[in-house]
Amino acid sequence: MDDDRFRLLVQGVLDYAIFMLDTRGRIASWNAGAERIKGFSAEEVIGQHFSMLYPAEDAAAGKPDRELEVAAAEGRLEDEGWRVRKDGTRFWANVVITALYDDRGRLKGFGKVTRDVTDRRAAEVALRESEERFRLLVQNVVDYAIFVLDPQGRVSSWNAGAARIKGYAEEEIVGRHFSVFYPADEVAEGKPDRQLAVAAAEGRLEDEGWRVRKDGSRFWANVVLTALYDDRGRLKGFGKVTRDMTERRNAEQAVRDRGRLVGHLVEAQEVERRRIAWDVHDESIQSMVAVGMRLQLLAARLPEPAAAAVESLDESVQAAIARLRGLVSRLRPPELDRHGLVEAVSAYVDDVAGRWELAHSVRDELTAEPSPEAATTAYRICQEALSNVHKHAQATRVDVVLSTVDNGLRVRITDDGVGTAGGEAGAGHFGLVEMHERAEAAHGWLSVTSTPGEGTTVECWLPTLPDVGGAGE
Ligand SMILES: Nc1ncnc2c1ncn2[C@@H]1O[C@H](COP(=O)(O)OP(=O)(O)O)[C@@H](O)[C@H]1O
Ligand SMILES: [Mg+2]
Repeated sequence: MDDDRFRLLVQGVLDYAIFMLDTRGRIASWNAGAERIKGFSAEEVIGQHFSMLYPAEDAAAGKPDRELEVAAAEGRLEDEGWRVRKDGTRFWANVVITALYDDRGRLKGFGKVTRDVTDRRAAEVALRESEERFRLLVQNVVDYAIFVLDPQGRVSSWNAGAARIKGYAEEEIVGRHFSVFYPADEVAEGKPDRQLAVAAAEGRLEDEGWRVRKDGSRFWANVVLTALYDDRGRLKGFGKVTRDMTERRNAEQAVRDRGRLVGHLVEAQEVERRRIAWDVHDESIQSMVAVGMRLQLLAARLPEPAAAAVESLDESVQAAIARLRGLVSRLRPPELDRHGLVEAVSAYVDDVAGRWELAHSVRDELTAEPSPEAATTAYRICQEALSNVHKHAQATRVDVVLSTVDNGLRVRITDDGVGTAGGEAGAGHFGLVEMHERAEAAHGWLSVTSTPGEGTTVECWLPTLPDVGGAGE
């Protein structure tokens, strides 16, 4: 390329300020990019010392001349820093100054290429700030222990949460192997190093287990180990996030204990009811039946009006026997033993809904006979739900559906009443609470949905095997 065309090219470049300085730093040429970036026209700057392009404090400190000296001595100088435009605004500049020599090696001046990299710098500053903010965030999180291990498993960073949860200050722990957090028996069997190996191989490892604090006490931890790799895929270490789950574990334990207790109570209640039912049946009803027979014999032999009086006595005894039979069947429904759930529920619903003048239906969609435990629970829930319909719903009908769903028994009792169930019933109202507890003690669930003016649905699901879900601890 000849000199003229080259000059034209340089002149026309807009993205770079390209200009020449004489040996003393005075501006000798000025291209379109320089005009655009700096705001000065060629006439305004040619012949001026280039320190006019620097912030006043840099110019006063002699930076421009120092840069020329370095460029003259070393042939080239690169610098990044603030420069000023004609209008006084600053921009972040990347500057390359090149010393220019003639054939005989004498310094003829300098070429200077300046780029406005304000945007790139802003992006870098934003990135640094966001990294810094992120670092501060991690540093200050107290709910999680967040720290970094080197590839050998030695602690290399430590945050506030780690200090709180594990009890070590940063100075005490950095540099130590992370196996100090594990119980001695697990260290002996090599668990810490095994976990690092798994995390290194698979990228990540999650674990729950006991960990040890500085004071030797244990806590139940949820741990996530993440392998950290550099750009070239080399293992640089591990990030470790540990949460103290002791409280949650205790709360879960308490819920399990309470569930077991409720289960025992419900079972004890059933046993007691059955015992009372048999007692009433075998003792009271039998002897009253005997009394009734004697009264009939007596009435047959007595003259009037004594016979009529004895007969009415006998009627009272028969009525009492019927009420006791009802009591027995509510305490321990005999149909459950003999015929199964659907008939027991049907008999019960026919009986009470008939008396309470409610239209009613019981639909059987069972494809498997539920376990005796599930059947008893379901029957009790039906009893309580129906008694609520009677007492509270002002309904005209009630429908019961028994079905087999998800390997379990689903019971749905729907009324078309006022729909006011489900809120806080307050002291002395245990019906809904007891239904929930029965369902949960059987490892199922119960829900009550009420729509004001439309009615209430009580729905429960009970596993057919009484012990699923409660197993495993
Ligand atoms: N089917 C229903 N329709 C309307 N309200 C209901 C129904 N079932 C329950 N409720 C409301 O929920 C409350 C709590 O019921 P429950 O716990 O069985 O206690 P109790 O029957 O002793 O009042 C009842 O007092 C009633 O206000
Ligand atoms: Mg009730």
